[in-house]
Amino acid sequence: MSWQPRGRVVVVTGASSGIGEATARRLARAGMTVVAVARREERLHALADEHPSIRPYAADVRDTAAIDELAAWVDRELGVCHALVNNAGVGGGPFTGRDDLDDVLRTIDVNLLGTIRCTAAFADLLERSAPSRVINVASVAGKLGIGPAGYTASKFGVVGLSESLGFAWAARGITVTQLNPGFIETEGFPQEQIKRGPMGRLVGQPEDVADAILAALTSGTPERTVPRWYRGFVAFRHVAAPAYRRVASGMDRARGSRD
Ligand SMILES: NC(=O)c1ccc[n+]([C@@H]2O[C@H](COP(=O)([O-])OP(=O)(O)OC[C@H]3O[C@@H](n4cnc5c(N)ncnc54)[C@H](OP(=O)(O)O)[C@@H]3O)[C@@H](O)[C@H]2O)c1
Repeated sequence: MSWQPRGRVVVVTGASSGIGEATARRLARAGMTVVAVARREERLHALADEHPSIRPYAADVRDTAAIDELAAWVDRELGVCHALVNNAGVGGGPFTGRDDLDDVLRTIDVNLLGTIRCTAAFADLLERSAPSRVINVASVAGKLGIGPAGYTASKFGVVGLSESLGFAWAARGITVTQLNPGFIETEGFPQEQIKRGPMGRLVGQPEDVADAILAALTSGTPERTVPRWYRGFVAFRHVAAPAYRRVASGMDRARGSRD
């Protein structure tokens, strides 16, 4: 069934920079009312000043009570929620042992548990607003075991969550998309190391992902990779796992950890 964005309500987390900020702008231009969520309130207000249909809301996705209150606020203020874009996320350092435990737990708390908290808080409103969409911004790192272990684990979790809920929530009129970006140049992920290497030309921009999110909202596709050519790596990993592991371990040694 075709799903038109114009006139619909969407909540975008992590909207104060990078992919989330570009997505909030893109969806507002497409005629949606956008609830823009992040911790840096002044950034959200600056974004809202650009577009009258962007509504800023400061919240931390690690705070269950705050996210429940966000969902209650959207219900009170707007009465519907047609789409939730779970995009808030952080990178992480390498996992070498006990010294890195707090970093790994924080990464999983924001990236995976934050996605689960928001999805839980909005589930009933999404069902009442059906047909509706959940777009989970995972990562190519959620399909391939390259990158810092905590980050990769969090994104494998988001991919698994999306796939499972995609089946389970179809009957409720809610589609769930795993949206997997490759290397994208943003504030949190400047990609300095990649940009200096042979893959530098292939680093994408937040607007590429914003366009893919709009396309995924419209189509309800269960999975989308952006830039699209990264799908080749994912296919390679599944059809030729031993060869893939040799290539990936060489890349990991050459690159160190993902920035
Ligand atoms: N850039 C890439 O190469 C790439 C590739 C694959 C996937 N991704 C994913 O894309 C998503 C967006 O990342 P980005 O590249 O756009 O990075 P970014 O520019 O650093 O944006 C991250 C956003 O998440 C928000 N955020 C972080 N912690 C939060 C928290 N506890 N509660 C609420 N919001 C929080 C930040 O806002 P505040 O600090 O204001 O809270 C910010 O708006 C992430 O999930 C990331 O894993 C990125």
